[in-house]
Amino acid sequence: MALVRVETTAVAVALMRALESDVPAGHRLFDDPVSGRLLTGLPGLVARHRSARVALGRLAETAMPGIRGTAVCRTRVVDDWCRDALAAGARQVVVVGAGLDSRPYRIAEFAAARVWELDLPGTQARKRAALALLPATTNIRYLPADVTTDPLDALLAADGFDASAPTLVVFEAVAQYLPAPAVAPTLEWAGSLAPGSRLVLTYLPERVWRQRARASRRYGWLSAYDPARLGAVLAGHGLTLLQDVGVEDYPDRYPQLRGRRLALREIERVAVAEVAASV
Ligand SMILES: C[S@@+](CC[C@H](N)C(=O)[O-])C[C@H]1O[C@@H](n2cnc3c(N)ncnc32)[C@H](O)[C@@H]1O
Repeated sequence: MALVRVETTAVAVALMRALESDVPAGHRLFDDPVSGRLLTGLPGLVARHRSARVALGRLAETAMPGIRGTAVCRTRVVDDWCRDALAAGARQVVVVGAGLDSRPYRIAEFAAARVWELDLPGTQARKRAALALLPATTNIRYLPADVTTDPLDALLAADGFDASAPTLVVFEAVAQYLPAPAVAPTLEWAGSLAPGSRLVLTYLPERVWRQRARASRRYGWLSAYDPARLGAVLAGHGLTLLQDVGVEDYPDRYPQLRGRRLALREIERVAVAEVAASV
């Protein structure tokens, strides 16, 4: 059985993002003044105190080298690809398994889009309680949903989602917590969206899943994909793979990492795919 509950993973990611604010500007991958404010209880206390953040950063690098690096590099790639999709014309965003994702509240380009956050009811309720203390937004809707059982098309249609408009779907750090057959409906739904819609997803490579069996059990990782086959898997759902990046790409993509002491280790990869134009 997993030692880490899936709902707790949202807190861990938000903490890793909150630590980024202490990184000197020349090395920082993104500015995130929001993640720390979405945390409550002990994680919130840690996020609000610099010395506690520094201690947590050191502990994370010692106890789980690569976890922080993966979280922040992945965050930056997803940020970049969200901005690209919004610049390319996406006017709706659906964040599937949104957890404590701070993007809609910290990236200015999201303000012009209609945004839906989907997550399990408990996680979403805790986030909304924390959001009550932040400036109000009018473009973001919240739908409690279990993506393994709830039909996303019907749920969103009932809430005013326009299935004919180009959409950005963010599916970050969720797939590996679901068995592969339970991931498929989300991919199928994303592939059924309007042509030009994009899906940004993260996934665990099969090799990592197999080689790190103990971590897989501890973190409750339930599925993985072979990067060499990802394009075919996505094509089976009507999606064309555009890019797929991992740890080997980060130092070239982000010169800020040079000279920064951040352990990088192959864990998740990040991919972006597009709904092909119908012929
Ligand atoms: C590691 S967190 C990632 C959160 C967010 N995407 C991010 O990157 O900050 C995983 C999220 O997936 C959500 N999740 C897991 N299983 C889910 C399901 N069956 N339906 C909806 N959300 C789910 C969890 O509640 C949690 O918020």
